[in-house]
Amino acid sequence: MPRPANAGNSGSQDAPAGRIATNDRSAGRDTLSVTDNRTGRTYELPIENGTVPAAALRDIKTAPDDFGLMSYDPAFTNTAHCKSRITMIDGDKGILNYRGYPIEQLAEHSTYLEVAYLIVHGELPTRGQYEEWVFSITHHTFLHENMKRLIEAFRYDAHPMGILVSTVGALSTFYSEAKSIFDPEARRQQMVRLIAKMPTLAAFAYRASVGMPFVYPDNDLSYTGNFLNMLFRMAESKYRPNPVLERALDVLFILHADHEQNCSTLAMRAVGSSHPDPYSSVAAAVAALYGPLHGGANEMVLRMLKEIGSKDRVPGYIQRVKQGQVRLMGFGHRVYKNYDPRARIIKQIADQVFEVTGRNPLLDIALELERIALQDDYFVSRKLYPNVDFYSGLIYQSMKFPVETFPVLFAIPRTAGWLAQWEEMLLDPEQKIARPRQVYTGSPRRDYRSMDDRM
Ligand code: SDX
Repeated sequence: MPRPANAGNSGSQDAPAGRIATNDRSAGRDTLSVTDNRTGRTYELPIENGTVPAAALRDIKTAPDDFGLMSYDPAFTNTAHCKSRITMIDGDKGILNYRGYPIEQLAEHSTYLEVAYLIVHGELPTRGQYEEWVFSITHHTFLHENMKRLIEAFRYDAHPMGILVSTVGALSTFYSEAKSIFDPEARRQQMVRLIAKMPTLAAFAYRASVGMPFVYPDNDLSYTGNFLNMLFRMAESKYRPNPVLERALDVLFILHADHEQNCSTLAMRAVGSSHPDPYSSVAAAVAALYGPLHGGANEMVLRMLKEIGSKDRVPGYIQRVKQGQVRLMGFGHRVYKNYDPRARIIKQIADQVFEVTGRNPLLDIALELERIALQDDYFVSRKLYPNVDFYSGLIYQSMKFPVETFPVLFAIPRTAGWLAQWEEMLLDPEQKIARPRQVYTGSPRRDYRSMDDRM
């Protein structure tokens, strides 16, 4: 609660109008002194964690019946809407840590399921915890047989993300106990099911789109090995994933597991704040991720590279970007104003994958785009660097994933992050149903007029 700073002797009542009063007596305190020049009153607002509580602004009024001030921040570019202990990003330094562990170390030493455990539980698992976690995930990969008919009901050319939004939401109808979101055991069961079943939903959607029979999960394989099995097994009795590709996909999943308050996580938290089951909240998060400005960007990068077609046409495309005709997909980020650390790691993985699959010819175009952009003032001045989506699509394409499935390959690993953020929101005593305010700029009150007397 702000204390009017000019109440008592700490105020700046003698500050001349129009100048910002300086009050040395407030110096060194974790407070913000603001003067409302409409009234001349100065208020002292608390500064906590580098923020000012927006609710504190409501006490800045011009009259007792005044609603008080609000903050205005379209797209929340400078608003912290929660406190979180899951992921830390330093956009200027290009740092990304999950629960304090640097992404570079996790990409080198960990597995996706271990990282999912870390993100959800807050600590790296002991061997026993890890084995129990892997066993639980592995034994919940099957879908209810009715889900196959739902997936087959889509047209052959249905976008996999449209199918995923629908099928994740449909899963909520199979588990009535999912609504018991404050029962820790029920909550954990749904979290395990969602992490386990996302690859199966994605693989079944892909197999239906290419007219191939569904491949059921193989419990002998790893999380990513089984995903490749359900996608690509043909007539062989036992699918054996290429270990280089299996590991590359696992690292890509690690890199995509969480990313603090991105658009789809905001959707997960906002929808989750009205307390539906987690499947419905994940469906909302998948829908947000589908957008070309977010998780859909990896698909758009491939389409952009194909449209450019050759290295010599890169300068022309860059011109179109600078004229505002098109965006350089896979570049730029709301938080990173430096190279996305994930893009750096993905670029290293690309070399390993191309040794197995053969070099992706579009890589030369991507490298030329990056080379030019990193030295062109249009991009440098806007701090536009490659983000996680710029190189990932090249790897997916070389691994024979259809371009439409790329955003799905983002949604699968991000499920662990969405669920961890959702649970953190549920258990946060400061959180409640999300309901922001607005600035009304519409028509003043007016009376209804009949159809005949309207212009
Ligand atoms: C992801 O939030 C997350 O963490 C997301 C994510 C995650 O892990 O969850 O990291 C995953 O979504 C990565 C981003 C993938 N999207 C793209 O690659 C699409 C292309 N990039 C953008 O459209 C854009 O950079 C955003 C959406 C990523 C960020 O947009 P902002 O922060 O709202 O920035 P902006 O649109 O206000 O742009 C600032 C300026 C503008 O120029 P001016 O109007 O000031 O002249 O930069 C320009 C923009 O036009 N700009 C670009 C550009 N991105 C921004 N110009 C050309 N190409 C681009 N890619």
